[in-house]
Amino acid sequence: MESNTQKLIHSFGALADLGQEVADSGDFMEMVRTSLHLLLGTLAIRRGAIIECPTHLLPEDKSTNLLAVWGLGDDYHPHFDVEDADRETFLNVTDGAIDVLGLVQSPTSNVQSQNSDVEREVSTVRGSGWVEESLGTTAESSPVFFDRYATELTQQGIELIIPMAVRGELTGLVLLGGKASGEPFTADDLEVIKSMVRHIGVGIHTHRLLGEVKQQALQNRRLYEDLRAIYRDTVRAFAAAIDIKDKYTQGHSERVGRYSEIIARELGFGEEEVEGMAIAGYLHDVGKLVVERDIINAPYRIDAKQSSELNRHPAAGFEILSPIHHPYADIPLMAKYHHERMDGRGYPDGLTDEQIPLGAKIVTLADSFDAMTTDRPYKTRRTFDEVIVDLRRNTGSQFDAIVVTAFCRALIKELNGETKERRFNKMLGKNYLDATKDIPLLNQLLAELDPNTQSAAAGTT
Ligand SMILES: [Fe+2]
Repeated sequence: MESNTQKLIHSFGALADLGQEVADSGDFMEMVRTSLHLLLGTLAIRRGAIIECPTHLLPEDKSTNLLAVWGLGDDYHPHFDVEDADRETFLNVTDGAIDVLGLVQSPTSNVQSQNSDVEREVSTVRGSGWVEESLGTTAESSPVFFDRYATELTQQGIELIIPMAVRGELTGLVLLGGKASGEPFTADDLEVIKSMVRHIGVGIHTHRLLGEVKQQALQNRRLYEDLRAIYRDTVRAFAAAIDIKDKYTQGHSERVGRYSEIIARELGFGEEEVEGMAIAGYLHDVGKLVVERDIINAPYRIDAKQSSELNRHPAAGFEILSPIHHPYADIPLMAKYHHERMDGRGYPDGLTDEQIPLGAKIVTLADSFDAMTTDRPYKTRRTFDEVIVDLRRNTGSQFDAIVVTAFCRALIKELNGETKERRFNKMLGKNYLDATKDIPLLNQLLAELDPNTQSAAAGTT
């Protein structure tokens, strides 16, 4: 018996372990049902149920959940209220199981005594005793719960209640009827039962924890998304404030943010990086806040002195943004380097190609494209043909070919209807773009920028 018992316990433990990895609720319920069947089958017990005692959100809700049932009447689904005092009772059961029949048939026994210090022996019934060896539990153990339910339970043929406690918490109850043979439970039987019930309890507890962790993760995610939305809105409000200072370039920062986002997405950046690029675009000119309004708003070409004052804005932007913790990396650097050039003739540091972060190169193109396509006090915006000419002339010296290529591709996708969003169109205005004319121009530029095309062309000459 000993070795068989151990084998059963071992295999049951493996089943319970499997249950710990099961996150899906359907699989979990199946595992609990299988556990109950295994428990009943092992000792040829006629009926039983597994009940969960969850901790509810509403403190007044004390109800239990029926997880699995077998052999009870079709219309009987055990459902109880487990009060706080009952939880204490079940957690303090000293011998792991409560004899229901004893409680009903020995109403005057000291199980109903309020004297908590007195250990009792559960009374044995059925002549020589249905439990071969007596069970012990605390004297205060049952009155509240059993006053309410003992009669109902015995009527349903329930003889044993085994509380499941994990880490000092009541997980649930296992209700068991008598053995089919009518023989009393032996001490070995009780050991098997208690061991199996322990595993079931761990499985239920783990499943509950997983549920809580999932819930917590969901809440954290919502919180994180809320925070991101707040951050994004704050940044956009900030960008609007920057643009207000520059009365000729209303909406410039917002548009640079959007163009940067489009280019980053086309380059295959992840969602967070794409969002980071939008933020970098919104904030790239934040340093203009420290530049005199008259210089920013000069209705003429500014002189060298004013120009050098204006050119302080990337470094000033870096100073402003550096102390702020951004959820995305490099935002201060993108502001700092958005006027650098591939050929080293930019400012503030005169960096070249590989020294300039890709994000800064993206903002540079977005910034220049918006500058070219919006009216300024001293010049009207360029036509799209002129923009293409500028991109062709300055790619490699001012702009990175990789970024220009991504930009052209994204624009072609909108013009040929591949993307439903009409973002360029919204920013550039209704009649600025002309798909019939512009797609060939963009394709031509792409072909020129593509190193494969260039080397193939070189090979033919
Ligand atoms: Fe700028």
